[in-house]
Amino acid sequence: MVLRVTLVALLATANLASAQFFDTINGFRPFGPGYNRGAYPQDFGVVGSSLEAVHDSQQAPTGLAVDNAVNVYLTYPRNNGQTPNNVVICTDFNNEKPWPSAAIQNCTSGQDPSTCFLNVQNVVLDSIGQLWIVDSGIPASIANQSGAQAVYGGAKIMSFNQTTSQLIRTYVIPQTLLAYGANANDVRINNTLGTKGYAFITDESTNSSLIAINLDDGSAVRRLFNTSVVRADPGYVGSYDGDLIYSWNGTKKSYFTTGADGIALASGNVYWGVLASQRFYYISQSAIINTSLSDAQVLAAVQNPGQCGSEQAGFTADDHGRVYILASEQNAIYYVDTQQSEVNQTVNGVPPGGSGPVAANNYVVKTLVRNAMIQHADSAAVLDGWLYFCTNQLELGPQRQYNNTDNRRGPFRSFRVWIGRGPAV
Ligand SMILES: *[C@@H]1O[C@H](CO)[C@@H](O)[C@H](O)[C@H]1NC(C)=O
Ligand SMILES: *[C@@H]1O[C@H](CO)[C@@H](O)[C@H](O)[C@H]1NC(C)=O
Ligand SMILES: *[C@@H]1O[C@H](CO)[C@@H](O)[C@H](O)[C@H]1NC(C)=O
Ligand SMILES: *[C@@H]1O[C@H](CO)[C@@H](O)[C@H](O)[C@H]1NC(C)=O
Ligand SMILES: *[C@@H]1O[C@H](CO)[C@@H](O)[C@H](O)[C@H]1NC(C)=O
Ligand SMILES: *[C@@H]1O[C@H](CO)[C@@H](O)[C@H](O)[C@H]1NC(C)=O
Ligand SMILES: *[C@@H]1O[C@H](CO)[C@@H](O)[C@H](O)[C@H]1NC(C)=O
Ligand SMILES: *[C@@H]1O[C@H](CO)[C@@H](O)[C@H](O)[C@H]1NC(C)=O
Ligand SMILES: *[C@@H]1O[C@H](CO)[C@@H](O)[C@H](O)[C@H]1NC(C)=O
Ligand SMILES: *[C@@H]1O[C@H](CO)[C@@H](O)[C@H](O)[C@H]1NC(C)=O
Repeated sequence: MVLRVTLVALLATANLASAQFFDTINGFRPFGPGYNRGAYPQDFGVVGSSLEAVHDSQQAPTGLAVDNAVNVYLTYPRNNGQTPNNVVICTDFNNEKPWPSAAIQNCTSGQDPSTCFLNVQNVVLDSIGQLWIVDSGIPASIANQSGAQAVYGGAKIMSFNQTTSQLIRTYVIPQTLLAYGANANDVRINNTLGTKGYAFITDESTNSSLIAINLDDGSAVRRLFNTSVVRADPGYVGSYDGDLIYSWNGTKKSYFTTGADGIALASGNVYWGVLASQRFYYISQSAIINTSLSDAQVLAAVQNPGQCGSEQAGFTADDHGRVYILASEQNAIYYVDTQQSEVNQTVNGVPPGGSGPVAANNYVVKTLVRNAMIQHADSAAVLDGWLYFCTNQLELGPQRQYNNTDNRRGPFRSFRVWIGRGPAV
């Protein structure tokens, strides 16, 4: 009896008080002074410096490079059908022209696929003034079908002189390394490793792997094939601008299985992210290229610094050993310092500063910029104190929207933000 009386009294109080608690006209009441977080529906925290617009694209770019003369290059891959140009150089804010030539953009019938572009994913500058392209070799006509295989010769990296646009050398990915749908997605070059440098490539296929090419003799290794550190989370569902993202084929729902995707070189390590996950890892470059090591030894050498709170399609690094992570779920670019000398706070009892690499369990990922204009930053490059990046609204594209509706709205803007640092390689 006592209990019933108490409940009735509480309900009566709640009814009487409701008019004070709810504003049925606006849905919210303004906060007084001192409330500055979550006061208004449009209040998202904007973090970091302002962005400078660099270029507007009519199609969605995935790859970006900036050469030493501050020319901007973009790639328009053919993962969802043909694009007129696969790689362009920007001639001004709105205009572009095919690069290095118009003729190389399309393979003609019967042409050797190692001499033309099938499906270039990214373009990057190395530390000796060469621009590199990475071509998945998967033809546009089949690129969005399950089980698509790369064409031998088409899957390759090519180096070009940034001044003359002349082709310097082509490295074809060996046929044996293309098994199980290898899908070369991104590349970084270390020009001082070994005798003539090495290229490191992410293979974003379902089984996934990392591929390294010796730039002296063209020999290649495929490592970490189909291991947990390159494979997607089973059933991964990311979010974008507040919506959950599935894989759609018409009205049939499934999950993306995209593996190792973004890549950067810093502090003698390879850093990569697994796209359909919030995971990233690193391993020493010397372990990846050492053919004396067994697959189990290479896997054991992988370092796990903890998750990064976002799906991510792009990484880059600067000359202070800082690695940048393009955090598409968060409209942000994150960073993490990998050299103890750059760390400015105590972590797990290790004081700021010092020397040598940061231990994996002391990595603290932070936010460089967060801004609603960052609509799936995909590739980034560092030059003369600026971090450049392209955006492409990937999650709003047909494969990620119900019934394959294309909800992307161009133009797709590329930006730069000041970091005051130079490139890692
Ligand atoms: C797959 O690509 C073809 C062009 O090659 C396009 O017509 C089709 O709409 C794409 N399908 C999906 C689900 O995006
Ligand atoms: C490449 O081929 C496509 C489709 O045939 C065509 O629309 C485009 O103009 C070609 N690009 C160049 C640079 O010739
Ligand atoms: C999408 O569904 C169609 C019809 O069932 C099928 O032919 C096609 O292979 C599917 N596409 C993919 C990428 O699974
Ligand atoms: C690019 O070409 C210029 C002009 O011919 C030359 O001076 C330079 O050494 C070349 N650079 C590379 C990396 O081949
Ligand atoms: C991954 O490898 C398995 C064999 O274990 C194969 O059945 C599957 O087709 C491969 N995945 C792709 C996307 O090629
Ligand atoms: C890849 O790993 C999956 C899951 O562990 C396994 O089912 C599959 O057989 C493996 N494929 C290959 C080619 O090793
Ligand atoms: C490139 O390789 C050299 C030689 O092993 C190494 O000292 C350097 O740190 C590597 N560069 C990067 C950016 O990791
Ligand atoms: C490659 O690995 C083997 C086995 O651990 C080691 O003895 C050798 O020193 C390594 N080579 C290089 C160049 O690091
Ligand atoms: C560490 O550096 C960051 C980025 O420059 C800065 O925001 C932060 O205030 C610094 N923290 C300390 C303790 O100096
Ligand atoms: C899906 O889109 C097609 C047109 O591409 C349309 O005919 C069909 O009605 C749509 N289905 C649903 C369930 O919305």
